[in-house]
Amino acid sequence: KKASIGVTGLAVMGRNLARNLARHGHTVALHNRSEERTRSLVEQFGDEGDFIPAYSAQEFVDALERPRQIVIMVKAGGPTDAVIEEFAPLLEPGDVIVDAGNAHFADTRRREQALRERGLHFVGTGVSGGEEGALHGPSIMPGGSKESYESLGPLFEDISAKVDGEPCCTHVGADGAGHFVKMVHNGIEYADMQLIAESFDLLRGAAGYSPAEIADVFGTWNTGRLDSYLIEITAQVLKHVDGASGKPFVDVVEDAAEQKGTGRWTVQIGLDLGVPISGIAEAVFARSLSGSTGLRSAARGLGGPTRTPLTGSALETFADDVEQALYASKVVAYAQGFNQIQAGAAEYGWDIDLGRVAAIWRGGCIIRAKFLNDITSAYAAEPGLPTLLTSGGFRKAVEDAQDSWRSVISTAVRLGIPTPGFSTALAYYDGLRADRLPAALVQGQRDFFGAHTYRRVDRPGSFHTLWAGDQSEVEA
Ligand code: 6PG
Repeated sequence: KKASIGVTGLAVMGRNLARNLARHGHTVALHNRSEERTRSLVEQFGDEGDFIPAYSAQEFVDALERPRQIVIMVKAGGPTDAVIEEFAPLLEPGDVIVDAGNAHFADTRRREQALRERGLHFVGTGVSGGEEGALHGPSIMPGGSKESYESLGPLFEDISAKVDGEPCCTHVGADGAGHFVKMVHNGIEYADMQLIAESFDLLRGAAGYSPAEIADVFGTWNTGRLDSYLIEITAQVLKHVDGASGKPFVDVVEDAAEQKGTGRWTVQIGLDLGVPISGIAEAVFARSLSGSTGLRSAARGLGGPTRTPLTGSALETFADDVEQALYASKVVAYAQGFNQIQAGAAEYGWDIDLGRVAAIWRGGCIIRAKFLNDITSAYAAEPGLPTLLTSGGFRKAVEDAQDSWRSVISTAVRLGIPTPGFSTALAYYDGLRADRLPAALVQGQRDFFGAHTYRRVDRPGSFHTLWAGDQSEVEA
């Protein structure tokens, strides 16, 4: 018997994907650079399904039925290229190579093109949900050709998470579309985590709640519109007490957030595309600031306001106000992320259904949330929606939240509690809804020092004012 799919790269993500496939009744060929991992997978989990261990590239390829489908799960960058080069020469036209790692979509586009010219399908696939997701049902975001999805789609849909019986997997679009969408997923993940972290900081710094009390607040929020995996795990992390010191776990962890780079990519590409994804950018910068330990210790003594904690009714309603601010800021972060996907699709010629993207993020992935049902419905009702902020339900919710949102941010400013995520989200909202922006003045400045020209509100054309001369206007 031959295998319907093979997995090479059997570190924890690859191993769990292979086990997930086998548990769903698919025969899975296994391969790893060092034989040990292949052996131990079969020893430990061989009874979960049908595995065919292979100890050379040729053996692996020979174990697969045609068209062969090989999933690569190795480190992004050089190691992925090396594995592709190891297998591509052994494959035949029509075979499919899947990269299920966190590759940069530009690499995926390059690889797809090169392999297409050799008659092979290359499918860059976003996989979200961490180790547990890979084993029990991730959210899967495959790019590549439509043709490759015909054979691969049913397998991936089978092992993906399900929400209301629907698989959290869809063909996202051609070549790098899947990895692009996964990248934006991670950017949104950063923004979401930052907003939750700011909520914690505010509840503690302005209202004096303990981590355990904040865990309870998050627990309550998790029964409402903020119901999500990230809120749920936040409550668990905040509840956790360090065994060694007896202190809240969150107080014994160094406050320097690390990153593997996908959030940074999202921001870099956002800049290239000219899409204001300020929520994601602030989240990345907040991690950088937290990790700038030398700078922070040099600046530690800088003066700030006296912290007079909240009292009375302001204190009483504070947790509710923060919930509103978090919700509104979250809508902005997602609106920005979906606009980035839209811009990427326009730039790279992908046909991406934003509603389907929201739908496959409802389960399995790190940002899975009830909220994504609402985004799915918003795009279903209006596929050409310019921004989530103008869709009926979100518009009303954000308008209703704005008093609390503004008041929470002013409290933060007054007390000197940094809320870059909340603040940039509100600035974006106010910027978008503004009648006139001071950008007109910026245009004037540019024209003054560089004769960069401007357009007028009252007639077409480009104009320049002779600033150093008689100040008359000429048509450029
Ligand atoms: C996922 C996660 C996953 C990974 C993050 C962590 O969707 O399953 O996003 O891809 O855990 O990339 O990212 P940082 O290390 O950059 O925080």
